[in-house]
Amino acid sequence: MPEREVWGTRIGFILAAVGSAVGLGNIWQFPFKTATFGGAAFLVVYLLAAVAIGLPAMLAEFVIGRRSNLNVVSAFRGLGRREWRFVGIFGLITGFWILSYYSVVGGWVIRYMVGSVTGAYFGDPAGYFTTINAGLATVGFHAVFMAITVGIVAFGIEDGIEKATKVMVPSIILLLVGLAVWATTLSGGGEGYQFFLSPDFGDLRSNWTDIVPFAVSQAFFSLSLGMGAMITYSSYLGADDNLGQDGISIVVLNTFVGVLAGLVVFPLLFAQGVEPGEGGAGAVFISIAQAFSELPAGRALGVIFFGVVLIAALSSAISLLEVVTAYVVDNYDISRPSTAVGLGLVLFLLGVPSALDIAMFTWFDAVAYGALLPLSVLLILVFVGWVLADEALDELRKGTNGIPTLGPVWLWTVRVVVLVAVLATLILGVQGLAEDPGILPPV
Ligand code: PFF
Repeated sequence: MPEREVWGTRIGFILAAVGSAVGLGNIWQFPFKTATFGGAAFLVVYLLAAVAIGLPAMLAEFVIGRRSNLNVVSAFRGLGRREWRFVGIFGLITGFWILSYYSVVGGWVIRYMVGSVTGAYFGDPAGYFTTINAGLATVGFHAVFMAITVGIVAFGIEDGIEKATKVMVPSIILLLVGLAVWATTLSGGGEGYQFFLSPDFGDLRSNWTDIVPFAVSQAFFSLSLGMGAMITYSSYLGADDNLGQDGISIVVLNTFVGVLAGLVVFPLLFAQGVEPGEGGAGAVFISIAQAFSELPAGRALGVIFFGVVLIAALSSAISLLEVVTAYVVDNYDISRPSTAVGLGLVLFLLGVPSALDIAMFTWFDAVAYGALLPLSVLLILVFVGWVLADEALDELRKGTNGIPTLGPVWLWTVRVVVLVAVLATLILGVQGLAEDPGILPPV
């Protein structure tokens, strides 16, 4: 068995983890879900969920990954708790499931980039979305997105993922900052800031059983939790990293990018008189495309905007492909490139139904949000809080050089507060799914 890889640098790990976290969840789903759920009030709930539930859960994943230095399934054996391997298997399945349809959206994004160059969506943004969201060509673009993902993962941790995300993450942030500054110059954009930033809690009060669980699942999705990604990435860490500090950096950067995306999207929509807030995967693409088709430099801006979205989607997709790749490479005598190609092929096939039929796509997403993500995180929390317990505390303390970690506070938060919140999310999510599998999803 070849020696296991490690990150070249600490910042390499942080950027790769941020690359995983920052994705379609931030730039596409987050602003639009904020819009659907009434604007700034949702933003407040989401921020609370990310800090109070997402961060402790992320540290739980880091503890498993770094203590075992193994992939998401073998980690449980490595920690002497072989009988808990089902938790890892469940995370692996969740990641696989999500990546299959995520890649389909990645394909749409490539298409919109091309469409910005040729001006294909100008004039009829709604019609364009209907043309591109399903069908054989959609399958083709899904294949292209998956192929690029496979290409990066095939190169490995330091030469593939670390190198790629070191360029990708700063580019995403710089380009988004540029777009946000540009958005301040749009006349009529002021209402967009108002909508995004000044909360009205009325909606929340009447609709909290939908909004709160969604915000929690959105925090998991956005922070790449419950899909094995953070366990896998932290398994390539050395003992001298301060997990708490890394976790905080990742949550802060991820949230920053989501907010930044909102500061681009909302002024843009309001300036063009496009009403945000209608649900549906299409609304996202249609309203943004409409805004670009009405602006003077719309083509160039469209290429930049969809280019940022594409980079963000790719740096997330590689993290999920890595979850399964690490599992195979750690356990079987198959080379990394062959593994990545083989898995890419299987994932591609699993995504074909979502690429052929948008109803299928919506269902995949609904199941991930309503059931798979909260259940997967719940299992991890039980394991770390109640089974690993003191060992988890010990792991969290490593690399802190005496800086207080608030470890016991974290452990009790994981054991009780976070656990109960996630359990409630799961129950409400499954209930919602049973009532209406097509409406719950965040698309
Ligand atoms: N954190 C990612 C996002 O917000 O887009 C979630 C994710 C989805 C990561 C799919 C990886 C992935 F393949």
